[in-house]
Amino acid sequence: MKKFFLTILTTILLGTIVRADEGMWIPALLQRNEAEMQAMGMKITADDIYSINHSSMKDAVVLFGGGCTGELVSDQGLLLTNHHCGYGWIQRHSTVEHDYLTDGFWAMTPEEELACPGLTAVMLKNMVDVTDRVLESITYETSDEDRAEIIKKHIKSIIEEAKKDTEYEVSVESFYIGNQYFLMYNEVFKDVRMVGAPPSNIGKFGGDTDNWVWPRHTGDFSIFRIYVGKDGKPAEYNEENVPYKPDYHFTISLKGVEKDDFTFVFGYPARTNEYLPAVAVDQEANVVYPVVVDLRTQILDIYNKYQEKDAKVRIQYASKHAGLGNGWKKWMGVIEGIRNFKGIDKKLAFEQAYNDWCMQSRSRMKYMHALRDFTPVYEEYEKYRMATTYFTEAGLSIEIIEFAANMAKLSEVTKDTPQEEIDELISELKETSAAFFKDYYQPIDEEVAVTMLTAYRAAQPEDFRPEILNEIDKIFKGDVKAYVDYLFGKTILTSEEKVNKFLDEFKPSKVKKLEKDPAVVAANSMMDFYVENVMAKSRECNAKINNLRRVYMEGQMKMIPERNLYPDANFTLRVTYGKVGGFKPRDAVEYRHFTTLDGIMQKENPDIYDYVVTDRLRELYEAKDFGCYADKDGTMHVAFIAGNHTTGGNSGSPILNAEGKLLGLNFDRTWEGTMSDLIYDPSICKNISVDIRYVLFLIDKYAGCTRLIDEMTIDE
Ligand code: ARG
Ligand code: ASP
Repeated sequence: MKKFFLTILTTILLGTIVRADEGMWIPALLQRNEAEMQAMGMKITADDIYSINHSSMKDAVVLFGGGCTGELVSDQGLLLTNHHCGYGWIQRHSTVEHDYLTDGFWAMTPEEELACPGLTAVMLKNMVDVTDRVLESITYETSDEDRAEIIKKHIKSIIEEAKKDTEYEVSVESFYIGNQYFLMYNEVFKDVRMVGAPPSNIGKFGGDTDNWVWPRHTGDFSIFRIYVGKDGKPAEYNEENVPYKPDYHFTISLKGVEKDDFTFVFGYPARTNEYLPAVAVDQEANVVYPVVVDLRTQILDIYNKYQEKDAKVRIQYASKHAGLGNGWKKWMGVIEGIRNFKGIDKKLAFEQAYNDWCMQSRSRMKYMHALRDFTPVYEEYEKYRMATTYFTEAGLSIEIIEFAANMAKLSEVTKDTPQEEIDELISELKETSAAFFKDYYQPIDEEVAVTMLTAYRAAQPEDFRPEILNEIDKIFKGDVKAYVDYLFGKTILTSEEKVNKFLDEFKPSKVKKLEKDPAVVAANSMMDFYVENVMAKSRECNAKINNLRRVYMEGQMKMIPERNLYPDANFTLRVTYGKVGGFKPRDAVEYRHFTTLDGIMQKENPDIYDYVVTDRLRELYEAKDFGCYADKDGTMHVAFIAGNHTTGGNSGSPILNAEGKLLGLNFDRTWEGTMSDLIYDPSICKNISVDIRYVLFLIDKYAGCTRLIDEMTIDE
């Protein structure tokens, strides 16, 4: 009877762990989900999505620029991704005369498409399960060190062998925390050119204010094109290269979405940690993130204060602000989501059921031990985790310290270092210095230094912190401001002129002088402390944690029918599916599933940078000149939400309808559901996509770049 009860309990609890809408699935194993997807409304087959025997949708999805997803939308290699994914390239091509960030960019002819040296698009050609070979000869008795060695050796030989008969790049990736391994074959395209981007007040409409938030009105897309050699194979940039002819490209649907429509997202999610024990989630959400959020709040407040005062500073700190602000806002959402959703309690309840399951058989004891052993390791780890957090978030947020850490590379130069090596290092540092000073505003950095050093000093115990923090006590009687004044008064690193002079005149005998610079002293003190006292212990804890996680994962895989468990995101191609729909974020509030251009006009405010609307867009809005891109309700739909389980890296991913036609581009998640990387709740975890009809309206009506529309396959 007890056993029966436990089985029931387990089933109920599992229901809270894996539900419909949750999961990022391996495309090569999608057959397992096909029935459920079709029951939810999908009209195509798993084989249409992923096949290695004939062309399929996977041939139209790429890892864009190493961190985002892109999709092919024409037989001429035309590629769509997010504006925030193309941002760096749009910025790099911008000058004062041609400010593409502000004004947008549209290549009206193929000749105007801009080369982006270094930008890649990676396409998965095949993936093969090699678990048996990777784990061959490993048993439960194999020690963790031996296990790591054996796996490394096996992977090396699998890769060497695979390389012999393929032109593709190969790698072996771990899934389910080392319980499954796939050999991946990837084609890497190296000539990817910039074709179009809307102005930032469309592509980044709402800016950091609206980031991670629904309702959203961002036209978050940019356009690129893959070029290949005349033989059709990937090649480095060459004027003679020709547009790539993909085996598959997406057909675009102009039908839009209705509530409860089936959708799926195909892309490259980067990292999730869905199978952590409660003790780990507790540490992340209740110890680490609050500190990071607190530190970043202080920094962002300082940025804001100066950015509001000065237009030049606003631009200088725009990208830094976006970078810090993106994680800052997300982690606030995670903390709150875990609390509201009672995430820790749910994990604990699951662990109870897991323990009960383990107790049912002697052979399951090892799984029980793994779960139990997490607690002491995480307790040990906390000290090192926090030391790392303060080092990176407080110490290295002081820009001059980070810059000094770069300059400190010169310390390795001795009188025996060959001159070419020195020259190379000097020229590298000159580049770093030029980039640093271009976007450096010293008053911000001084204020950041005072707040960050104060926080660092207050949080880390005297016997476990960089020496420099104790010197503030000894020499400056604990007066952080006095120390910061001394630091900025004495260092040569606040002046581009002085830095360049130093670099120009550099010879090995000058290393001593550099090492006495107070910014370099501070940087070295922090780095030395980290390397000597934190790094090795952190790694040791992480190795232990990973081994426990592997066994705990194996236990969960044994306990839960395999079909229901998906591996954490690991930057490999995945499929996730869910239905279109709004949600109830809190009492008395209900979100509709789509936004329109009306909302943009409601948010419009010429005085607030994030909410400026261009005259051209307003004119089109007022004339209701939406062409065939209007919804059947007559309005211009801008964005929509659905229950797809996505994460960072999924930006730019195609969101597709039941027939596999393109509905839009995924670009974000809703703030209430940002905890989905740790624990997923389908009632509040939604992905945000820009409606493809808004994208086409902008390309066609706004920019008049009709040649791009003409090459797409559009289903009206
Ligand atoms: N939150 C989204 C993601 O994590 C979009 C970030 C870019 N947009 C912005 N306003 N910073 O990447
Ligand atoms: N905005 C994220 C990205 O850039 C997507 C997400 O985290 O939902 O990949």
